[in-house]
Amino acid sequence: RLGKNGQEMVALRHRSGAACDVYLHGATVSRYAVPNGHEVLWVSSGAVFNGSKAIRGGVPLVFPQFGPKADELLGITSMSQHGFARTSKWSVRSAEVRLNGDCQVVLTLEDSEATREKFPHKFSLLYTVSLNETCLRTALKMTNMDKATVAPQALLHTYFATDEVAQTRVSGLDGVSYYDQLADETDAQHGDVSFCGETDRVYERGDKLVISCEGQRAVTEIAVEATYVEEFGESGSSATPFAPDVVVWNPHVSKAKAMSDFDDDGWKRMLCVEPGILNKNRPKIAEGNSVILSQTITYIP
Ligand code: BG6
Repeated sequence: RLGKNGQEMVALRHRSGAACDVYLHGATVSRYAVPNGHEVLWVSSGAVFNGSKAIRGGVPLVFPQFGPKADELLGITSMSQHGFARTSKWSVRSAEVRLNGDCQVVLTLEDSEATREKFPHKFSLLYTVSLNETCLRTALKMTNMDKATVAPQALLHTYFATDEVAQTRVSGLDGVSYYDQLADETDAQHGDVSFCGETDRVYERGDKLVISCEGQRAVTEIAVEATYVEEFGESGSSATPFAPDVVVWNPHVSKAKAMSDFDDDGWKRMLCVEPGILNKNRPKIAEGNSVILSQTITYIP
């Protein structure tokens, strides 16, 4: 299917009315609507849909580097902010609608000359987006195809829509340590996360998170999971779960103004909650093994 500006996309449509659009550019989920028509994700009115940059909103994918600087575990000195997955053209591996109406698309991205110039490793990414009546699940499987062990970073950089960010809370992070990227210091969360100014924090773990807005009954639940998958050839594989990091971000007034594709008032109606694999203790993936990072988003009206 062709989406905005003739860009290729896959439209998942569940018979309950749930809908999800996924652009091949960046494998970016740009829309998730639940059966009652509510749009769960935020997309900037200034988002660029022509393949020239990452889509500002929905769920851009960060891989293999978080932020502007590579860390020593990556073994490279620099790469563009948030890596290349969100600006690469992905391929459709499969798309299906099951008998019960549930639908799914699997997209892939493999290393190429262009990616190896930035990140000298062979890898295979599989991104599965599954939609049913009650939830949207997105799962990124990163397989190391290289002899050398690698420790890529990754994020499901999810932009959630909210009516008023100043009235919005994220619960599920009480007591969790975080690194404040703005203050360059570490602290621990007390109670829910609220937003009274620019917010940019990397929480060291998260599993079940809930977004709520004061005065509203509806909530959005996010179940976050990460798994290390070790392959033993013919004797099978083992799966070891571990807690992902979670980035919480809102740019507030001046950062929003400084971004050309971010509508000036848009920061009031969005917040990013981004499951990721970022920290220094993240798994080093041996040849043939994988890490799966996933989120299941459930909007409860
Ligand atoms: C967040 C980072 O994940 O992404 C922020 O924590 C960053 O520091 C934000 O500003 C947006 O990044 P970008 O590259 O999409 O403007």
